[in-house]
Amino acid sequence: MERILERLLAGETVSGQAISAELGITRAAVWKQIEQLRALGFVIESQGKQGYRLLSCPDSLMAPVIARGLQTRWAGRQIVYLPSVDSTNRRARQLAAEGAPHGTLVIADEQTAGRGRRGRGWISPAGEGVFMSLILRPQSHPSEVARLSMQTALAVALSIAQTTGLDARIKWPNDIVCGGRKVCGMLLEMNADEQEVHDVVAGIGINVHQTQFAPEIAQTASSLDLLSGQRVCRAALVRAFLEAFERTEALAAQGALMDAYRARSATLGQRVQVIAPAGSFTGTALEVTDSGSLIVEDEEGQRREVLAADVSVRGLMGYA
Ligand code: BTN
Repeated sequence: MERILERLLAGETVSGQAISAELGITRAAVWKQIEQLRALGFVIESQGKQGYRLLSCPDSLMAPVIARGLQTRWAGRQIVYLPSVDSTNRRARQLAAEGAPHGTLVIADEQTAGRGRRGRGWISPAGEGVFMSLILRPQSHPSEVARLSMQTALAVALSIAQTTGLDARIKWPNDIVCGGRKVCGMLLEMNADEQEVHDVVAGIGINVHQTQFAPEIAQTASSLDLLSGQRVCRAALVRAFLEAFERTEALAAQGALMDAYRARSATLGQRVQVIAPAGSFTGTALEVTDSGSLIVEDEEGQRREVLAADVSVRGLMGYA
């Protein structure tokens, strides 16, 4: 189906006969695939003997739709689209173990067991969001992987801002918030030994079309459609993310990543409450280090380094 879609997206009138010869399938099979595409919302005109022509495209995440006009060298050059999967991170880790190349994107319309940070789940209803995992094969030591987390967060924030016009900000460590509400979460999983990183899977969940949220997140979450007042095109958002990711890599190479990250931070300079395994405290977020930890000045004026914690930022996500 993806091969026929690629031809249709190129603006060509696709002759049933030519495509059946090219793909080695019967004309009846071509017709069946056209019908399947129609059922998915692609409006395809039949022009008798001349063949089929695409008139309009739905809000699809199928690989050829994302790939159309994608301006990247390596990010998303291979796209694995799944209508439904348990978790794109789990599938991406499996593909990485099987040798999938750097930059492979695994994306799904729905997740039945989406995974969040700290063992939580990620609600992933069909057609409502972007649920994707980017496979990265960095040439770096495990200690440098924090940079990838910052790169991913920055790329998502930039792509949301570009696609929707919203002021998307990074809440440490890597939630994206707009208008004080969480619209995106990330889960990076690494496969490494002491010397070497074999691969990293950067999993990203963005709330795009949702209008309702589970009671436990209803006060803190929102979606891009609700916040921007427009229907956001998911494929355009994914393309913008892949392109932004390559730009953040260039920034990292120039030593400019941290400045760009800080400029998009919702946390730095703010009053925060840190809820860490070692105990909770309040203070002012001062900086994010190159290794990704947050430096907070507590009420006694002590600088404390926070590595892994939940951090509430005053004025965001219901924290008064
Ligand atoms: C968080 O808890 O904030 C992180 C949520 C990460 C969710 C994304 S959705 C795509 C990818 N696949 C998963 O199972 N999780 C991540």
